[in-house]
Amino acid sequence: MLIVKTVYEMKMTRSKIQTNKRVGFVPTMGYLHEGHLSLLKKAREENDVVILSIFVNPIQFGPNEDLDRYPRDFERDEKLAQEAGTDIIFYPTSEEMYPEGYSSYVITEGLDRHLCGAKRPGHFKGVMTVVLKLFNITKPHSTYFGQKDIQQARIIEQMIKDFNLDINFHICPIVREEDGLAMSSRNTYLSPEERKQAIALFKGIKRGEELYKNGERDAEKIKKEVEKVVKSFNLAKIDYVDIVDYSTMSPLKKLGGKSVLALAVYFGKTRLIDNTILE
Ligand code: PAJ
Repeated sequence: MLIVKTVYEMKMTRSKIQTNKRVGFVPTMGYLHEGHLSLLKKAREENDVVILSIFVNPIQFGPNEDLDRYPRDFERDEKLAQEAGTDIIFYPTSEEMYPEGYSSYVITEGLDRHLCGAKRPGHFKGVMTVVLKLFNITKPHSTYFGQKDIQQARIIEQMIKDFNLDINFHICPIVREEDGLAMSSRNTYLSPEERKQAIALFKGIKRGEELYKNGERDAEKIKKEVEKVVKSFNLAKIDYVDIVDYSTMSPLKKLGGKSVLALAVYFGKTRLIDNTILE
């Protein structure tokens, strides 16, 4: 496994990969868990060369967010990545990605209006910008994103289409802990009591799925019931519970087609997200 830290070196390494080899790319911010590893495994199955990026992207964090305390452990990541069959880790510094004079950004008009886009202004601009840069540096044939961050996945899927990028986009299922909590690098912030109560999101989602299965199509009614479940956990503070259309990421009144029930919930300072597709 090769570890590459500069853009120049990554581009050189990429240019030496034979043109008949398929390249799969998984972008992450590191502190790898089974969710990340599921993307790497899928990339391994479908490609000749697997590139993983580990970069805690400063421009996607708001001023009062957790950039400084975001968990980092490169040695551990290196071991896990190797076990998952990664060929190359691209591990740049912030200065390498955003040198002095950096001034170009990518935005979406519309897909970031609701959910996390509304709650974290500028977040998706930072995500789109870094992902487009990473695509240009690694030039993959295929890329793998998690449904865990469904709005991010949808925005990147659309960016690939809008900018005519020749990249196959794959969205992979949410990997969960045994009790249902969606795996996340941020779960490490939770105190033991918060960790216990963090199943609130999964319980809320299960309630939503149950109502949907029983024929409920009124978004307001489903949201109210989901909120009730989440609020029954005394440490949970709801940031949003929303039901949106998958393709537009805009709120729905009546469910139909491919819809998404999405939640963001605070436990203390820790903000967790989860979602399910209802169709
Ligand atoms: P990060 O949070 O490290 O996530 C990297 C990828 O792993 C994303 O596609 C995310 O959806 C996926 N992922 C995280 N938890 C998962 C889980 N429990 N099950 C399945 N997939 C999961 O998302 C980012 O980094 C950044 O925004 C990035 C795209 C790298 C841009 O900086």
